[in-house]
Formats: sequence, structure tokens, C-alpha cells
Amino acid sequence: KHRVLSGMQPSADSLHLGNYLGALVNWVRMQDEYDAIFFIPDLHAITVPQDPAELARRTRVTAAQYIAGGVDINKCTLFVQSQVPEHAQLAWVLGCITGFGEASRMIQFKDKSLQHGSDHASVGLFTYPILQAADILLYQPHGVPVGEDQRQHIELSRDLAQRFNSRYGETFQVPEAFIQKESAKIYDLQNPTAKMSKSAESPAGLINLLDDPKVTAKRIKSAVTDTETEIRFDREAKPGVSNLLSIYSSISGLSVDKIVADYQGKMYGHLKVDLAELVASHLGPIRDRANELLADPAELDRLLAHGADKAREIASATLTDVYAKVGFLPYG
Ligand code: TYM
Repeated sequence: KHRVLSGMQPSADSLHLGNYLGALVNWVRMQDEYDAIFFIPDLHAITVPQDPAELARRTRVTAAQYIAGGVDINKCTLFVQSQVPEHAQLAWVLGCITGFGEASRMIQFKDKSLQHGSDHASVGLFTYPILQAADILLYQPHGVPVGEDQRQHIELSRDLAQRFNSRYGETFQVPEAFIQKESAKIYDLQNPTAKMSKSAESPAGLINLLDDPKVTAKRIKSAVTDTETEIRFDREAKPGVSNLLSIYSSISGLSVDKIVADYQGKMYGHLKVDLAELVASHLGPIRDRANELLADPAELDRLLAHGADKAREIASATLTDVYAKVGFLPYG
């Protein structure tokens, strides 16, 4: 089996629908076909300030949502990044073969440092993509399923793998980015040309997995559309309606064309009411299951520690090889 690996930051109280439809649903589909590794990048989360108790809580909440959303720990490996020290260790080595200019070209850093002000941006935020490369290369995956926004980071991982291989000899698998199709990209309900994101200005455009279904229904019903009345898919001219249609399609499994045909002659309000219902009934069981898992944090921690043990077996083999190739003395 080919191996795939991916992760989602524990940086909010809930995953949003973009994380769910753009990433998690796809992971769940992949775990049957691939040797799948999923993790929670908590080391990445502290590149911006985090309240310690909050971070711990969010890490568990994120893990619970992975599992509630269908990640099956009997089929894949699920772990928390900070419990596998090899990530930070390999990141150091990779940092030493990354050019300063190369790291400076990473757009996510540019965006975030603009947002927070470059004086407040940490060195950790700057080296973030190098840690991400370490996350990936430690496990020698064939593919990394991510959204379009992560493409540049996967490119850097590929470059670093090739550079290390050519300098020190064949060591790393050069990973492919498995970029989700455009239809899996979910936009903000209030600002439908921007991707749905936890860092949005207002929460009104977000659909969170763990929100009260009434809140979710209200947000869908207040989603920004346009002044026309026709329900059709056109990302350019009708981003709001198109976003609702692609959410509908992703959740129901029906094609956008079929949905458009079904809503011929109906009003936006009809579509919104039905979509609110569909989303609530789909997310309800996930929310319940996540809350059940969170009611027993000790058991959740035990599952994650087991995942970390499995991950370390792979990660430590790669790191041992890397250290030897670099010229570090063998230990023990
Ligand atoms: P993160 O936590 O921002 O996002 C996790 C995944 O969700 C996708 N995504 C979306 N997809 C569709 N619509 C949206 N509105 C939307 N918002 C987010 C992202 O593309 C991503 O696939 N740097 C990574 C985390 C990471 C990682 C890794 C990923 C750290 N190490 C190693 C893969 C491999 C990040 O911040 O993703």
C-alpha cells in the first residue's frame, strides 16, 4: 500500500466545514486504500501565541473530531505531533539546508506576518514550512492530501527531499501533493470569494462542526447571495449561491447539475432551508460522537499515545538514517 500523510492545526474550538469537506472527508475515504497517517500539528500551533490550557483542550477537541468524522484508529495511525520528538529534530537538519531567501518566499508567512505585524511574527512562524517538511519526510509518504493553500509548502518539502538526497545520498521519498479538487474548497458564507477560515473577521461566515445546529442553520439562512433569483452554479458571477451548491453537493453526494435541476424555478430561501436541514442532520451525529469522546479525556489521551508509539517506529528509523548520513556519531 502507498502511504499518505496529512494534518490539521488545533487552532480553534471546532473544525469548520472547509476543514471537514476539504480535508477530513477525503482522509476518511483514503484510509481504506492507503497506509494512512494523520496527526495534529500542535508544534505548528504555537507559531502564534496560544493559551496553554486552551491549546491542550483544542488538541483533544481536534482529535475527537477526526475520530467522530470517521478517522478509524484501527485502519490508520493518528497522533499528536509534540509526542513524536523526531519532528523537531528533523526540522533542525532541514533548516540547515534551506536558504534564507527560499524560506522568505513562503506566502503563508507573508500573509500572517502582515496580519500580525512583522515585528510580532515569531521566528517559529518563519520556519513553519520547514517543520511541515519534516512532518512529511519523516514518514516517506507517497502523497500528501491537502487543499490548494498548502501547495507551496508541499513544493518546499519536495525541494528539500531532493536536495538532501542529492547531497547525502538517497534518503527521502519525494512526496506528491494530492490537491483536492476545486469543488472541495469551501468559502466564507458572508464573504464567498474568501475561503472559509478560522481567522475570518466575523464568525457569521463559518460553519463549525461542534456548533449548536440552530446557530449553523441561522448562518446558512443569512448567507450572502446576490440580487438575482436564479439558482445556478457560476463561481465568478454568483459566488454565494455556488458555494451553497457545492456544500450541498459535497454533503449529499448529488452532482451540482442534479441539484440545480431540482431547484429550477425555486427561490434562494428554499435552497437555504433545505441545506440548513441537510447540514444539521449530517453534522449532528459527528458532534454527538465528538462530545462522547471528550467526556473521557483519559481514554482519548491513551488512544493518542498509542498512535504516537506507532508513528515513532517509522519516524525514528528515518531520523537515525538522516543523522548517520549527516555525520552525527551513532548513539548506543
Ligand atoms: P490547516 O490546519 O490550515 O488546514 C487543514 C486542511 O484543511 C484544508 N482547508 C480547506 N479546504 C477547503 N476549504 C477551506 N475553506 C479550507 N480551509 C482549510 C487545508 O488545505 C488543509 O489541507 N500547514 C497545515 C498543517 C500541516 C500539515 C503538515 C499538512 C502541518 N504539517 C504536514 C500536511 C502535511 C495547515 O495549516 O493546515
